[in-house]
Amino acid sequence: MSSDLDTPLIIALDYPRLDQALAMAERLDPSRCRVKVGKELFTRTGPRVLEALHGLGFEVFLDLKFHDIPNTVAGAVEAAADHGVWMVNVHAGGGRRMMEAARERLERRRLGTHLIAVTVLTSMERDDLIEVGVEAEPLSQVERLARLAQQSGMAGVVCSAQEAAALRATCGDDFLKVTPGIRPRASSADDQRRTLTPGEAMAAGSTHLVVGRPVTQAPDPMAALATIERELAESS
Ligand code: C5P
Repeated sequence: MSSDLDTPLIIALDYPRLDQALAMAERLDPSRCRVKVGKELFTRTGPRVLEALHGLGFEVFLDLKFHDIPNTVAGAVEAAADHGVWMVNVHAGGGRRMMEAARERLERRRLGTHLIAVTVLTSMERDDLIEVGVEAEPLSQVERLARLAQQSGMAGVVCSAQEAAALRATCGDDFLKVTPGIRPRASSADDQRRTLTPGEAMAAGSTHLVVGRPVTQAPDPMAALATIERELAESS
Protein backbone atom coordinates (compact mmCIF):
# COMPACT_ATOMS: atom_id res chain seq x y z
CA MET A 1 0.00 0.00 0.00
CA SER A 2 3.03 2.23 0.24
CA SER A 3 3.09 4.16 -2.97
CA ASP A 4 5.27 6.57 -4.85
CA LEU A 5 2.54 9.20 -5.01
CA ASP A 6 4.35 12.40 -4.15
CA THR A 7 1.67 14.69 -2.75
CA PRO A 8 0.65 15.51 0.82
CA LEU A 9 -2.94 16.24 -0.23
CA ILE A 10 -5.83 14.08 0.95
CA ILE A 11 -9.27 15.28 -0.14
CA ALA A 12 -12.09 14.52 2.33
CA LEU A 13 -15.09 13.06 0.50
CA ASP A 14 -17.65 14.00 3.15
CA TYR A 15 -20.85 13.01 1.37
CA PRO A 16 -23.78 10.89 2.49
CA ARG A 17 -24.22 9.16 -0.88
CA LEU A 18 -22.03 7.04 -3.12
CA ASP A 19 -23.02 8.88 -6.31
CA GLN A 20 -22.08 12.24 -4.77
CA ALA A 21 -18.71 10.96 -3.58
CA LEU A 22 -17.92 9.40 -6.94
CA ALA A 23 -19.08 12.48 -8.87
CA MET A 24 -16.51 14.51 -6.90
CA ALA A 25 -13.81 11.85 -7.23
CA GLU A 26 -14.31 11.80 -10.99
CA ARG A 27 -13.47 15.50 -11.07
CA LEU A 28 -10.20 14.94 -9.18
CA ASP A 29 -6.89 13.61 -10.48
CA PRO A 30 -5.64 10.51 -8.59
CA SER A 31 -2.06 11.35 -9.51
CA ARG A 32 -2.32 14.65 -7.56
CA CYS A 33 -4.24 13.72 -4.41
CA ARG A 34 -5.53 10.91 -2.26
CA VAL A 35 -9.07 10.76 -0.89
CA LYS A 36 -10.52 10.21 2.58
CA VAL A 37 -13.67 8.21 3.32
CA GLY A 38 -15.24 8.79 6.72
CA LYS A 39 -17.86 7.23 8.93
CA GLU A 40 -21.02 8.57 7.31
CA LEU A 41 -20.14 7.66 3.73
CA PHE A 42 -18.75 4.26 4.68
CA THR A 43 -21.68 3.40 6.94
CA ARG A 44 -24.12 4.26 4.19
CA THR A 45 -22.33 2.61 1.27
CA GLY A 46 -20.13 -0.09 2.73
CA PRO A 47 -17.01 -1.30 0.96
CA ARG A 48 -18.34 -0.60 -2.53
CA VAL A 49 -17.20 3.01 -2.14
CA LEU A 50 -13.65 1.72 -1.66
CA GLU A 51 -13.88 -0.54 -4.72
CA ALA A 52 -15.21 2.34 -6.81
CA LEU A 53 -12.52 4.79 -5.67
CA HIS A 54 -9.77 2.21 -6.22
CA GLY A 55 -11.28 1.59 -9.66
CA LEU A 56 -10.81 5.30 -10.41
CA GLY A 57 -7.16 4.97 -9.39
CA PHE A 58 -7.28 6.64 -5.96
CA GLU A 59 -5.40 5.70 -2.82
CA VAL A 60 -7.86 5.84 0.08
CA PHE A 61 -7.56 6.86 3.72
CA LEU A 62 -10.36 5.01 5.54
CA ASP A 63 -11.04 7.31 8.50
CA LEU A 64 -13.10 5.09 10.82
CA LYS A 65 -11.13 5.69 14.05
CA PHE A 66 -11.50 2.18 15.46
CA HIS A 67 -11.60 1.88 19.28
CA ASP A 68 -12.45 -1.47 20.88
CA ILE A 69 -10.80 -4.47 22.51
CA PRO A 70 -7.52 -5.50 20.84
CA ASN A 71 -8.81 -8.54 18.95
CA THR A 72 -11.79 -6.65 17.54
CA VAL A 73 -9.72 -3.70 16.37
CA ALA A 74 -7.08 -6.00 14.87
CA GLY A 75 -9.83 -7.70 12.87
CA ALA A 76 -11.31 -4.40 11.70
CA VAL A 77 -7.91 -3.06 10.65
CA GLU A 78 -7.18 -6.32 8.83
CA ALA A 79 -10.52 -6.05 7.01
CA ALA A 80 -9.71 -2.48 5.96
CA ALA A 81 -6.31 -3.57 4.70
CA ASP A 82 -7.89 -6.49 2.82
CA HIS A 83 -9.99 -3.90 1.01
CA GLY A 84 -6.71 -2.39 -0.15
CA VAL A 85 -6.86 0.96 1.60
CA TRP A 86 -3.71 3.07 1.78
CA MET A 87 -4.30 4.27 5.34
CA VAL A 88 -6.57 3.42 8.29
CA ASN A 89 -6.76 4.74 11.84
CA VAL A 90 -7.53 3.78 15.43
CA HIS A 91 -7.93 5.76 18.68
CA ALA A 92 -4.69 5.85 20.68
CA GLY A 93 -6.92 5.96 23.78
CA GLY A 94 -7.62 2.28 23.12
CA GLY A 95 -4.19 1.65 24.59
CA ARG A 96 -0.90 -0.04 23.80
CA ARG A 97 -2.22 -3.61 23.54
CA MET A 98 -4.96 -2.54 21.14
CA MET A 99 -2.55 -0.68 18.87
CA GLU A 100 0.05 -3.47 19.00
CA ALA A 101 -2.55 -6.10 18.15
CA ALA A 102 -3.63 -4.10 15.11
CA ARG A 103 -0.06 -3.56 13.95
CA GLU A 104 0.89 -7.19 14.51
CA ARG A 105 -2.09 -8.37 12.49
CA LEU A 106 -1.03 -6.24 9.53
CA GLU A 107 2.57 -7.42 9.86
CA ARG A 108 1.61 -11.06 10.12
CA ARG A 109 -0.36 -10.77 6.88
CA ARG A 110 2.33 -8.53 5.30
CA LEU A 111 -0.28 -5.87 4.58
CA GLY A 112 1.29 -2.50 3.78
CA THR A 113 -1.61 -0.28 4.84
CA HIS A 114 -0.42 2.68 6.92
CA LEU A 115 -1.81 2.45 10.43
CA ILE A 116 -2.10 5.74 12.30
CA ALA A 117 -3.76 6.89 15.52
CA VAL A 118 -6.05 9.67 16.66
CA THR A 119 -4.84 11.22 19.91
CA VAL A 120 -7.29 13.74 21.43
CA LEU A 121 -10.19 14.80 19.22
CA THR A 122 -9.83 18.50 18.45
CA SER A 123 -13.43 18.95 19.59
CA MET A 124 -12.27 18.12 23.15
CA GLU A 125 -11.24 21.10 25.23
CA ARG A 126 -9.68 21.13 28.68
CA ASP A 127 -13.05 20.91 30.49
CA ASP A 128 -14.18 18.02 28.31
CA LEU A 129 -11.02 16.11 29.24
CA ILE A 130 -11.56 16.79 32.94
CA GLU A 131 -15.12 15.49 32.61
CA VAL A 132 -13.81 12.15 31.32
CA GLY A 133 -11.20 11.98 34.07
CA VAL A 134 -8.17 13.32 32.20
CA GLU A 135 -6.55 16.03 34.31
CA ALA A 136 -4.08 17.19 31.66
CA GLU A 137 -3.74 20.07 29.26
CA PRO A 138 -4.96 18.96 25.82
CA LEU A 139 -1.50 19.42 24.23
CA SER A 140 0.28 17.37 26.87
CA GLN A 141 -2.34 14.62 26.50
CA VAL A 142 -1.82 14.75 22.71
CA GLU A 143 1.96 14.36 23.22
CA ARG A 144 1.49 11.54 25.69
CA LEU A 145 -0.80 9.59 23.35
CA ALA A 146 1.40 10.30 20.31
CA ARG A 147 4.41 8.86 22.18
CA LEU A 148 2.37 5.82 23.14
CA ALA A 149 1.20 5.43 19.54
CA GLN A 150 4.79 5.58 18.31
CA GLN A 151 5.97 3.04 20.90
CA SER A 152 3.07 0.79 19.86
CA GLY A 153 4.24 0.81 16.25
CA MET A 154 1.84 3.30 14.72
CA ALA A 155 3.16 5.05 11.62
CA GLY A 156 1.83 8.41 12.76
CA VAL A 157 -1.11 10.38 14.10
CA VAL A 158 -3.91 12.64 13.02
CA CYS A 159 -3.21 16.02 14.56
CA SER A 160 -3.94 19.71 14.21
CA ALA A 161 -1.27 21.81 12.55
CA GLN A 162 -0.79 23.55 15.90
CA GLU A 163 0.12 20.18 17.42
CA ALA A 164 2.34 19.13 14.51
CA ALA A 165 5.26 21.30 15.58
CA ALA A 166 5.27 19.87 19.12
CA LEU A 167 4.93 16.34 17.76
CA ARG A 168 7.86 16.81 15.40
CA ALA A 169 9.97 17.46 18.48
CA THR A 170 8.42 14.56 20.42
CA CYS A 171 8.18 11.91 17.70
CA GLY A 172 10.52 13.02 14.91
CA ASP A 173 10.16 13.88 11.21
CA ASP A 174 9.40 10.36 9.97
CA PHE A 175 6.35 9.91 12.20
CA LEU A 176 3.38 10.83 9.99
CA LYS A 177 1.36 13.88 10.96
CA VAL A 178 -1.92 13.98 9.09
CA THR A 179 -3.49 17.37 9.54
CA PRO A 180 -7.05 18.63 8.91
CA GLY A 181 -8.26 22.19 9.42
CA ILE A 182 -6.40 23.48 6.37
CA ARG A 183 -7.58 26.58 4.55
CA PRO A 184 -5.84 28.06 1.51
CA ARG A 185 -5.08 31.76 1.83
CA ALA A 186 -8.26 33.03 0.21
CA SER A 187 -10.92 30.63 1.44
CA SER A 188 -13.62 30.57 4.12
CA ALA A 189 -12.93 28.91 7.48
CA ASP A 190 -16.37 27.17 7.43
CA ASP A 191 -16.87 25.65 10.90
CA GLN A 192 -13.15 25.15 11.56
CA ARG A 193 -11.93 27.32 14.44
CA ARG A 194 -8.15 27.37 14.13
CA THR A 195 -7.03 26.98 10.55
CA LEU A 196 -3.62 27.12 8.94
CA THR A 197 -2.71 27.55 5.30
CA PRO A 198 -1.20 24.55 3.48
CA GLY A 199 2.26 26.15 3.58
CA GLU A 200 2.02 26.98 7.28
CA ALA A 201 0.89 23.44 8.11
CA MET A 202 3.80 21.86 6.20
CA ALA A 203 6.24 24.29 7.81
CA ALA A 204 4.82 23.26 11.21
CA GLY A 205 5.75 19.65 10.47
CA SER A 206 2.62 18.13 8.91
CA THR A 207 3.39 15.35 6.44
CA HIS A 208 -0.13 15.09 4.98
CA LEU A 209 -2.93 17.63 4.69
CA VAL A 210 -6.62 16.71 4.83
CA VAL A 211 -8.62 19.24 2.82
CA GLY A 212 -12.38 19.04 2.36
CA ARG A 213 -14.65 21.92 1.46
CA PRO A 214 -12.03 24.31 0.02
CA VAL A 215 -11.71 21.76 -2.81
CA THR A 216 -15.02 19.87 -2.82
CA GLN A 217 -17.20 23.01 -2.72
CA ALA A 218 -15.15 24.96 -5.21
CA PRO A 219 -16.76 25.55 -8.60
CA ASP A 220 -13.68 23.94 -10.16
CA PRO A 221 -12.20 21.46 -7.66
CA MET A 222 -9.01 20.80 -9.65
CA ALA A 223 -8.40 24.54 -9.99
CA ALA A 224 -8.76 24.84 -6.18
CA LEU A 225 -6.34 21.93 -5.77
CA ALA A 226 -3.89 23.59 -8.16
CA THR A 227 -4.07 26.76 -6.03
CA ILE A 228 -3.08 24.72 -2.98
CA GLU A 229 -0.24 23.08 -4.93
CA ARG A 230 1.01 26.55 -5.90
CA GLU A 231 0.87 27.72 -2.28
CA LEU A 232 2.86 24.66 -1.27
CA ALA A 233 5.45 25.21 -4.00
CA GLU A 234 5.85 28.88 -3.06
CA SER A 235 6.34 28.13 0.61
CA SER A 236 8.66 25.13 0.27
O1 C5P B 1 -14.10 20.56 4.87
P1 C5P B 1 -12.92 20.49 5.80
O2 C5P B 1 -11.60 20.84 5.11
O3 C5P B 1 -13.13 21.27 7.07
O4 C5P B 1 -12.83 18.94 6.18
C1 C5P B 1 -11.88 18.45 7.07
C2 C5P B 1 -11.99 16.98 7.22
O5 C5P B 1 -11.11 16.58 8.26
C3 C5P B 1 -13.38 16.45 7.60
O6 C5P B 1 -13.52 15.14 7.04
C4 C5P B 1 -13.32 16.39 9.10
O7 C5P B 1 -14.16 15.41 9.63
C5 C5P B 1 -11.85 15.99 9.32
N1 C5P B 1 -11.33 16.35 10.63
C6 C5P B 1 -11.29 17.65 11.10
N2 C5P B 1 -10.76 17.93 12.33
C7 C5P B 1 -10.29 16.94 13.08
C8 C5P B 1 -10.31 15.63 12.63
C9 C5P B 1 -10.84 15.36 11.38
O8 C5P B 1 -11.71 18.57 10.41
N3 C5P B 1 -9.77 17.22 14.24
